[in-house]
Amino acid sequence: MCGIIGCVGREDETLDVLVHGLSKLEYRGYDSAGVALSGDRVDVCKKSGKIADLRGALESREIGGAAGIGHTRWSTHGPPTDANAHPHLDCTGDVAVVHNGIIENYQSLRDELVSAGHSFQSDTDTEVVPHLIEDALADGADHEAAVREAIAQLEGSYAVAVVLSGDDTIYAARNDSPLVLGLGEDAYYLASDVPAFRDHTDQVIYLADGEFATLHADGWHVSDVDGDEVEKTVDTVEWDPEETGKSGYDHFMLKEIHEQPRAIRQCLRGRVDELTGSVDIGDLGDLSPTGVQFVACGTSYHAALYGAQLLRDAGIPAQTFLASEYATAPPPIGDALVVGVTQSGETADTLSALREARKRGARTMTVTNTVGSTAARECDHALYIRAGPEIGVAASKTFASQLTALNLFSLGTTRTSDSREIIGALRDLPSNIQAILDESNAEAVAETYVDSGAYFFIGRGLQYPVALEGALKMKEITYKHAEGFAAGELKHGPLALVTDDTPVFAVVTGDGEMARKTIGNVKEVEARDAPVVAVTDGQSDVERYADAVLEVPETHPQAAAMLANVQLQLVSYHVADKLGRSIDKPRNLAKSVTVE
Ligand code: AGP
Ligand code: GLU
Repeated sequence: MCGIIGCVGREDETLDVLVHGLSKLEYRGYDSAGVALSGDRVDVCKKSGKIADLRGALESREIGGAAGIGHTRWSTHGPPTDANAHPHLDCTGDVAVVHNGIIENYQSLRDELVSAGHSFQSDTDTEVVPHLIEDALADGADHEAAVREAIAQLEGSYAVAVVLSGDDTIYAARNDSPLVLGLGEDAYYLASDVPAFRDHTDQVIYLADGEFATLHADGWHVSDVDGDEVEKTVDTVEWDPEETGKSGYDHFMLKEIHEQPRAIRQCLRGRVDELTGSVDIGDLGDLSPTGVQFVACGTSYHAALYGAQLLRDAGIPAQTFLASEYATAPPPIGDALVVGVTQSGETADTLSALREARKRGARTMTVTNTVGSTAARECDHALYIRAGPEIGVAASKTFASQLTALNLFSLGTTRTSDSREIIGALRDLPSNIQAILDESNAEAVAETYVDSGAYFFIGRGLQYPVALEGALKMKEITYKHAEGFAAGELKHGPLALVTDDTPVFAVVTGDGEMARKTIGNVKEVEARDAPVVAVTDGQSDVERYADAVLEVPETHPQAAAMLANVQLQLVSYHVADKLGRSIDKPRNLAKSVTVE
C-alpha cells in the first residue's frame, strides 16, 4: 500500500536516487524503509522507522550496484520491525523483492514453501515471492521466466519489483496497486507514484493491471501475462516537482475522500463470498460474542455506534461507550467482548479503556488501521480495516473502511438472513461512491451556505452516526458551529437554535418508517424557515421539503450510511476550502491523540 522506487542506469548514483525517491514517497505514510542493489551479489539494507533511520544504517555500509529497488512499508502483515521491512530475500540471498499490497493466498503458498524446506525470516505476505522465484530458478527457469512464474501464483493486490544478483535488470509487475515507469536520458525508473522520480524525468508510462515490465540500462519492455509485447504510450507529466505528494489534489483530505472506493475494495479483498453469503475474517468468526461493548473516540466512536447497531439488529446485545467515559460503564457480562475501534491504534483514551476492560476480565479486540499498533499488540484479536495511510488529520477514508470492517465483523459473527444482499451492497460500494465523487453537487451546496451561522445534521437509526460524523467533520475543518442530532431529538430542545441562518442537513434514505418519521422532523425545521439540504436516495418524497438535494444511489440500508457520508464529507471540505482553512492540519488538532 505504500511506496516503491526503482532505478537502473545511474551507475554509482543508484543508492542516492533510491533514498531520495523514498524521501519523496514519505508523504504516503510508512513505518519502515529499505533498499536492495544488485551487482555481483544483492546488497540489502532495511530499517523500521523513518528514512533518516535508514540513512543512518546506510552510513556504516558499503553498498552499491547498477540496478536498485527501494520501499517504504505500511505494514499489513506483521508489525513494523527491521525483519519485516522490505526488500525480502530468498534462501540463497540472490533474489530481492519489494511489494506493495496484500497477497491473499500467501498462507497456503508459505505452507507449501516451508514444507519444501524454505526458511522464512519475516511475518510478511511478501516473503513468499522471493522463495517462489528461487524455486523456479532451481527448476532451470531464466530470471524473467522465474519472476513471471512466481507472479502467476499470486492472488490479491500487488505492485512488485525484483532484482537478482549478477543481473542489472529490474523486473516488475502490477495488479490493483499502482506502478509507473520513468524514462530518463540514460536511466530508467520505476515507482508507485511519479514524485519518487519526478526530479529526474517527466516522461512516464503508466502500467496497467496484469502488465509485466523489465528495465535495464539499455531500455525497457512491457508485456502482458502471456509475454506478448504491449505498446505503451509515453506521457509527459505536466506538474512540476514542487506539487508532488497529493496526486494533483489540493489537499490530502480530498485525495483521501477520493481514495474511498479503493480503500473499501482493499478491506473486502479475500474476505467475502457473494455466492454463499459467507465472510472470512479469520478466527474472529469463531468469537461468537454473547454481548459486545464498543469503546472509541471521535470519528471512531461514530463508527462504533454504527457497528453496535448492526450487532443489535442481528440479535447481539451491543453498547457503545466514549472511551474516555468507559470507567463509568457497567462491567462486561460473561464472555462479552470489548471492541476498541481506533484508526491509529494509539489513542490513549481507547487504550486505557481496553486495558480497563481486560482488568474486568473481558476478551478484547481492536478494529484498527495500523498493524503493529499498541491496540493491535495488546488486544486478544485485531480486525484490520486496510484503508492505507491517512495523512489528513480529519478522518475520511478510514471512517468508510471502519464501517465496512464492522459490517464484516457483524456478518462473520452473527446470522442474518440477508447476508448475500449485504455483501452485494458492500461489493457495490466502491462504484456507488465513485458515482457520487464524479457527480456530486456538494460544492454548489457549500457555496450557497458557506456564510451560514451554524449547521445541523439529523438522521435516524444507522443514519444517526452519519449525522454526528457530518457535524464533526464540519467543526474540525471549517471551525464553524455544527451539531449532529438524532432526528427525533430536535424537537426536545435543539429546535430553539434553528433559524433561517442554520441549514439542516437531513439524511433520509429508503422509504420506510424511519424515513417517514425523519421527514416529519424535516417539516418541523422547514416551518421555522431553516434551509433544508436532503441527502437522499430518492425513495421518499423528502425532496419536496428540501431547498437542495444531495443524491446517493439506492442500495441496502446498511450501505446507504456510507454513501450519505461521502456527500457530507464533500460539503464540509468545500465549505472549509472556500473559507481558506488549513484543511489537512486543522488548528488545535492532532492526528493521533496520545494523552488522556
Ligand atoms: C477524526 O476526524 C478526528 N481526527 C478524531 O476524532 C479521531 O477520530 C479520534 O481522535 C480517534 O482517533 P483513532 O481512531 O486513531 O483512535
Ligand atoms: N503486505 C506487505 C507487508 O505487510 C506490503 C505492505 C505495503 O504495501 O507496504 O509487508
